[in-house]
Formats: sequence, structure tokens, C-alpha cells
Amino acid sequence: MRESILVVDFGSQYTQLIARRIRELGVYSEIKPFHIPLEQIKKSQPKAIILSGGPASVWDEGAPSLSPEIFELGVPILGICYGMQLTTHLLGGIVERSERREFGPAEIEVKDISDLLWNIPQRTRVWMSHGDRVLKLPDGFIPIATSENSPVAAIKNSENLIFGTQFHPEVVHTELGKEMLSNFIFRIAKCRGLWTTKSFADNAIREIRDKVGGSRVICALSGGVDSAVTALIVQRAVWERLHCIFVDTGLLRLNEAKQVVETFRNLGLNLTHVDAGKRFLVKLKGVEDPEKKRKIIGEEFIRVFEEEALKIRGAEFLAQGTLYPDVIESVSVKGPSATIKSHHNVGGLPEKMNLKLIEPLRELFKDEVRDVGLELGLPIEILGRHPFPGPGLAIRVMGEVSEEKLEKLRLADDIFIHEIKRAGIYNDIWQAFCVFLPVKTVGVMGDERTYENVIALRAVTSLDGMTANWSRIPYEILEKVSVRVINEVRGINRVVYDVSTKPPSTIEWE
Ligand code: XMP
Repeated sequence: MRESILVVDFGSQYTQLIARRIRELGVYSEIKPFHIPLEQIKKSQPKAIILSGGPASVWDEGAPSLSPEIFELGVPILGICYGMQLTTHLLGGIVERSERREFGPAEIEVKDISDLLWNIPQRTRVWMSHGDRVLKLPDGFIPIATSENSPVAAIKNSENLIFGTQFHPEVVHTELGKEMLSNFIFRIAKCRGLWTTKSFADNAIREIRDKVGGSRVICALSGGVDSAVTALIVQRAVWERLHCIFVDTGLLRLNEAKQVVETFRNLGLNLTHVDAGKRFLVKLKGVEDPEKKRKIIGEEFIRVFEEEALKIRGAEFLAQGTLYPDVIESVSVKGPSATIKSHHNVGGLPEKMNLKLIEPLRELFKDEVRDVGLELGLPIEILGRHPFPGPGLAIRVMGEVSEEKLEKLRLADDIFIHEIKRAGIYNDIWQAFCVFLPVKTVGVMGDERTYENVIALRAVTSLDGMTANWSRIPYEILEKVSVRVINEVRGINRVVYDVSTKPPSTIEWE
């Protein structure tokens, strides 16, 4: 059985970071919500368990909790912040409710360097973010670090291998946090640390081979990183029994469809290119509302895909590029949240078509997916590409979409991307693109008055697309793009730069 660390999520904004850090140390780690049944934990045989932080107080009504039996499994446990307070509370200690939050940097004084804090100097900087604090330890526990505001900054019960920290070792502001986590997983939990993206890919390939047997697999290839890496993994497992379907919605960037087809055929993928641009345009005729456009494209995509998939006899599986952040049932994301934009995906397909799902990337973070892609020989142009939305250019032409508007947008977009690549700043930008505005403005070209459309340039920096800031692209580059777009794209006489952050704006305009 693969060695793994279970992170039990109590809703901290840092939960994903804990799993990341552990994986960076070479041990596979996964996150489960706090209400995961004990039986399931036992079955997965984790080498250790980490209880995350969270916004609640153990004294809150309905505060997230877990069965105290978890402490009797004989598996090493580390409680972080709320995780430590809950450990204390459940095992008979006292947690003091505090009105004042301690938030930010602090210094701890290390009292015991025998295990969790092995090799940590007597004084070290940590990151605190908590309200409550531990007043009295449960039996069998001793404090192993103190801080000015938290007399109990870290605790241990060395007999049962239960530990706790009031601070967050997973954030970079805890200067030796990684060493502490390393102590926990290697010195205490005795992990070996054999997890790498290479071992991941080998494992995934083997598992898919076993699962699929002699039947066929279908994969929807979009040209993006996730579906490309998914296809390559499945290809290594079943070779010619993988059928990739590339639905060309006609809403892609300049020459993109051609590039995708060439690249993937060169990689030896069995690829069907479905040129469905006309179908999508017909469906979008007269539609102005962004949400309606998204829905129409999503539905039409499924329809086209389904028609093609039905032509492949003996297909029993559908491979999808679902990533880790999409799957964790974290308490932090469980609440009802408003639909800001309906994202397009092929989610409805498997049930409808009676296909079984293969999701080889569901355990990975985005940058891990890139590493796997690199490992499998995916070209850098695909790996380093800016994200592109499923509904494509249809949500970058404001209002009704037409081939004529798409054409202008494609040319302008190509110029923008070309110039930022030439300036060497493409990789510093999370996403850059043009938006076609249906408004007309007056200009003058030569001696002629013009009355033409506007192109907006959008470029943002971001970590995950959830929040974003506009890129500080040097004026000279913006100037070059503006001059080129107005000169080279007929029907455009004005270029503007979008200086809005997300929130309150979004990255895409629709
Ligand atoms: P917003 O506009 O919501 O975009 O700030 C955040 C990120 O998501 C991308 N995006 C989409 N991706 N299907 C996708 O696969 C969609 O329908 C979709 N809408 C937005 C957007 O490009 C940005 O990276």
C-alpha cells in the first residue's frame, strides 16, 4: 500500500497548503473533510494524520469535531491550531475562549527538541492565526514550545505520538515550518518519502491498465494542459485503444485548432478533429446574455461529443482531466455559494452515456500536473500556456457572437500575445487576452473620419484565478500592441487597457 498522510480538514484557508508541503517532502498526502467516517480512515491506513486549522472555536455550537477514537488508532497525529485545540478539548484538557485573536508573526521558545522540534533552534519565528488557546493540557501531554501570547505553543504526548502546534508550520512565514513537518512525517511517522511525479505517473498508468482491461477509452481533448496530460497518461496505459476527440467549437484562438491537432498527432495520439464551428455559431445567433451563451456552448459541446463518441465501438471509459482542487470536499468550500459564472465542463457525460470515469489527475495540483506533463514529453508551448475558458472567444466577444467579430478578435489577440511573448513577459502573466467591444467610437485615420469598434486588452497576475491583479505591462509594450492592432485589424480604431482587479471585477469580461 502506498504510504500516505491524511489531512483532516476543519476549514482552514491553509488546508491545501498542508497537503502541498507534505507532497513536496516526497510523501503522498490527501485531504478529507472532518466528517470522514473512522472506518474509512482505518481502511486507508495512513502513516499519519494531520488535523488542520479552522475558523471555529471548540466552544461554538455545532463546532466541527471528530470521534475521539481517532486518537486510539495508534497512528501519529499532528493537530495544527484548531486541530490542536480540538485534540486538547477531546482528550480532557481545557481550551480557553479568547476574544483577542493572535494573528501574524510571533517567536516561539523551543523547550524540547527530541522529536517534532528536532534540530530547531531555541528561538524561531512562526505564523500564528488563532483565537482560542490551550489553558490546561490533557493527561500525558507536555508543552514543547511557548510564546509570549501562547504559553502553550506546541504540545506532545510522546507515548501515543500525538502532537500539536498553535502556529501554522505549513505557511512560509513559519521559517522552519517545513523542517517541523519533515520531523513529523519522517522522524515520527517513519515515512520513506518515495512519492514523485514520476512514480505518480507510473502508478497511474498501471492502475488504468488494470482497470480498463481490453476495452476502449474516450478522452475529450481541449488543447489545455489538464486534458493533454490526462490523454498522455491514458495513452501510455492502453495505447491505440485511447480515442481522443477534439471538439473544435470555432471559438478558439488564431490557428489554435491546427496547432492542437498537429501537436497531438505528433505525440502519437489517436485523434478525431470535429470541426463544429458552424453548429456553435448557429446556436449562438441572436444570443446576447453571457450565461445563456455559456449554457448553449456547454450543451452543444456535449451533443457534439456524444455523437462522435457513439461512433467508437466498445468504449466503456471516459478520461477526464479533473484536478485535486475540484474534488476535495472541503468544509471551506461546502457552503452554498452563488453561481457567478457557470463553467463549462463535460460533467454530464458519463451518466448519460453509461461510461465509467477515469480521472488520473484527481490527486494533483496544477503545478504537479505540469511536472507530470513534462515527464511525459508534452511540449512546453502547451505546458506553459495561459488558461483558456471552455466557452472560448464567445465570452470575449461582448454580446452577440458573429464570425466577423471573432475574426477581428482573433487577429488582435494574436498580436497581443505575440508582443508579450516577444517582450519576454508571457510567463510572468497569468492570463492575457483581448476582448471585442460592440461599441463604436470615432477616430481619424489619414484624413478620414472612422467609426469603428474597440478592443480591450486584459492581462492579469494571479495565483489560482480566484483573485487577480492587472499586470503592470510596460507602456512601450502596450503602445506597440495598440499601434499594431489599430493598423492591422480592420474595423478597430481604439485600444484600451483594463485596470480592474478581481474582485470586484472578474478576469473574463463575461
Ligand atoms: P473569471 O472570469 O471567473 O475567470 O474571473 C477565472 C478563471 O477561469 C477561467 N474561466 C473558465 N474556464 N470554463 C473554463 O474552463 C469556463 O467557463 C470559464 N470561465 C472562466 C478564466 O479564463 C480564468 O482563468
